[in-house]
Order: sequence, then C-alpha cells, then structure tokens
Amino acid sequence: MTGTGHEPGVVIRDAGDGDLEAVLAIYAHHLLTGLASFEEEPPDLAEIARRRDAVVALGLPYLVAARAGVVSGFAYAGPFRPRPAYRNTVENSVYVAPDAAGSGLGRLLLGALVERCSAAGYRQMVAVIGDSQNEASIALHAAMGFRHIGVLSSTGFKFGRWVDTVLMQRSLGQGDTTLPGSHSKDRAGQKKEGRD
Ligand SMILES: CC(C)(COP(=O)(O)OP(=O)(O)OC[C@H]1O[C@@H](n2cnc3c(N)ncnc32)[C@H](O)[C@@H]1OP(=O)(O)O)[C@@H](O)C(=O)NCCC(=O)NCCS
Repeated sequence: MTGTGHEPGVVIRDAGDGDLEAVLAIYAHHLLTGLASFEEEPPDLAEIARRRDAVVALGLPYLVAARAGVVSGFAYAGPFRPRPAYRNTVENSVYVAPDAAGSGLGRLLLGALVERCSAAGYRQMVAVIGDSQNEASIALHAAMGFRHIGVLSSTGFKFGRWVDTVLMQRSLGQGDTTLPGSHSKDRAGQKKEGRD
C-alpha cells in the first residue's frame, strides 16, 4: 500500500517485526513528553510485539509509515470496548515521529486505517484523545472526517495536572444506514487490549 499525500516517497504498510523498534521509539517519545497517551512508562519491545500481534490476530490493521525507508509513524485499530455488541466499532491510535510531524504522515496513516477498517466491515471509528489541548490530534481527526463528540473532564492525571479526554467519531463504510455483516474474525469474547 503506497501513500498518495503531499509527502512523496512515503509507503504505508503493515508493521513487520523489524519495524517494532522504531514504533517503540516513537511511542516512548510521545508518552514520556506528551499527554496523548495516558500510559506513563514505556513498554518493552516484547510488549509492543504482543500488542501488535493481538491487533493483527483480530484481523485489524497495524500500520507503519516509512519515509525513505525510515519508519516515522504508526497507526492501528483495536476493539473499542470488549462487550460483544461493540463488535462493529473500533478505536484508533496514530503517532508520528517528532522530526516527521506536519508532513502529512498522520493523514496518510489515518486514511489507510479508515480504508482498511471500512473494507473489513467495521461501521464506526472512535478516537479517544488525551488532552483537550492536543490541537494536532484534534485537527487531524477533524480533517479526516471525525466529528467532535465531547470532552470527559479531568479523567487523567499526568505530569502533575488533570487531563481531559476528547472523544471524536466517524462512520465507516455504510455506517448505521444498513445492518452489519460479519467480520472475517469473530472477536466476541476476546480480551480487550489495554488502550493508550
Ligand atoms: C497528531 C499527529 C499524529 C498528527 O500527525 P502529522 O503527521 O503531524 O499530521 P499531518 O501532517 O498529516 O496533518 C494533518 C492535519 O492535521 C492538522 N495538524 C497537524 N499538526 C497540527 C498542529 N501541530 N496544529 C494544528 N493542526 C495540526 C492539520 O489540519 C493537518 O491538515 P493540513 O495538512 O491540511 O494542514 C502527530 O502530531 C502526533 O503524533 N502527535 C502526538 C501523538 C498524538 O497526539 N497522537 C494522537 C493520539 S489520539
């Protein structure tokens, strides 16, 4: 899968084992310096691999953006909540390396994620965004067709302050205009992955 945004030479593809060190470095940077993730200690590489494998095992996408061969961003979709009636809804995550920010990778990653989840039959995508001042993430999601649902006030406490959670949502495919089909992998009863 090759991106077509305003950044030439960017490839969006499924994350391989060899990409996970770069994924971890990008994620660790953001969780140690920002409020997008409510995780506080970086996981190790084995844990990142376990999380990627769990996403892939559900038939969901775990993608990286490679710019001139260097992995500079990643995005994935996981179950929104574990109860079976949520089976048509996914939650997304997207992170871009600081030296690649603002060059269109977020847009390419999120666009590919929407495309893949729509094709797999999912009907809603929810973004659970740490920090109501996370302008980049809120603007990226708005640019990708997500609407602002609301703010859960002071649901986090990180770096010595209360942090809000912003909920944004978009329909996938036919949304709620038709009844759902079945997904390639039935995830009823699957354990929910820990979210950011
Ligand atoms: C949010 C994030 C993924 C955006 O990725 P990116 O590659 O920098 O975004 P893009 O260059 O594709 O920009 C897409 C749109 O987002 C908006 N945007 C991006 N950065 C922005 C910023 N700093 N301030 C305001 N808007 C911004 C713009 O509307 C842009 O549209 P444009 O291309 O028409 O100008 C990136 O900033 C990031 O990794 N942030 C830290 C982690 C995070 O918050 N992840 C989201 C968790 S839910």
